[in-house]
Amino acid sequence: MVSVKTSVPESVPTLNAAERLAKLAYDDMRRVDALILERLDSHVELIPELAKYLIEAGGKRVRPMITVAAGNLLGYTEDCVMKLAAAVEFIHTATLLHDDVVDESGMRRGKTAANLIWGNASSVLVGDFLFARSFSLMVEAGSMKALGVLSAAASTIAEGEVRQLSAVKDTSVSVDTYMQIIDAKTAALFAAAAQVSGIVAGRNAADEEALETYGRELGLAFQLVDDALDYGGRASKLGKSVGDDFREGKVTLPVALCIAKAEGEEASFWQRVIAETDQRDGDFEQALDYMKKHGSIDATVKQAKDHARAARVALQRFPANEWRTALEDLADFVVERAY
Ligand code: IPE
Ligand code: IPE
Ligand code: MG
Ligand code: MG
Repeated sequence: MVSVKTSVPESVPTLNAAERLAKLAYDDMRRVDALILERLDSHVELIPELAKYLIEAGGKRVRPMITVAAGNLLGYTEDCVMKLAAAVEFIHTATLLHDDVVDESGMRRGKTAANLIWGNASSVLVGDFLFARSFSLMVEAGSMKALGVLSAAASTIAEGEVRQLSAVKDTSVSVDTYMQIIDAKTAALFAAAAQVSGIVAGRNAADEEALETYGRELGLAFQLVDDALDYGGRASKLGKSVGDDFREGKVTLPVALCIAKAEGEEASFWQRVIAETDQRDGDFEQALDYMKKHGSIDATVKQAKDHARAARVALQRFPANEWRTALEDLADFVVERAY
């Protein structure tokens, strides 16, 4: 065999979508992270202690990355974009603190969840503090319209979480209802994160709407993958426990698709484990077997792919530059997480 020498040494690693984006957005994300750390400070010691515990554990920073990348796509990277990006991450972090109390989660970002260390009350109150700080940042950003969009998203998230709470253990939750819930609890913030950059950059309504659509579709894809991973993922990779949704009796898409097809013994199984949350050893594995039989995890990932594709399509009106590629990469990254 003839060996051909190429100019690229084999040892040069190729970056995946997430790494490429992180590299491109590195400087701006440092500005955002500096703002986040500065603004979580308080003379009440428990607040920075608990908030830093969670924030310094990392997290993917997907939402502020969207704001930063959308700003760059439009050639607009004033301080107000970084402030809005930090506000977006604060809203997200506040909802995580609240969500882990509601979901009684034990693990977040690879660490013991804050609620297990400091208790539910502290988690809820520090979450409130972060919400309030996000509003200060939005005001500083100086756009009433962006403030309006993000505060609407914050109330929509709460509506989504409350709606989901009411739907727990309800085996009659339809695919439609599920989609409405994830649109509210997750996609609304992704949509706002992208839209606010269009607003402060002074873009026309069509550009703003395209960014909003990009964020919304990406957010739907993100939550669909997250819900698939709650059955098919690994805790070590996710940094949070798998099987939480099942344990709680949450009807996410993988379950809803099984329930729609279940008959006889299988229907009784879903009734027992979800409606009555009467769960025994081996039930989670049994649920996984049913999901395999109906292909419901694959179908969930397929839906995520469709939404990720729609997110990419929404970007087509913008000039093809490295930032548009980065936002497109982000859509791939969201789906790549499923594998
Ligand atoms: C978790 O969001 C909540 C969901 C919408 C599924 P992320 O997966 O973005 O959480 P972090 O910020 O990376 O920890
Ligand atoms: C996340 O919901 C949505 C919000 C935090 C508003 P989940 O409950 O599905 O997210 P994880 O699995 O706890 O991250
Ligand atoms: Mg949760
Ligand atoms: Mg939840």
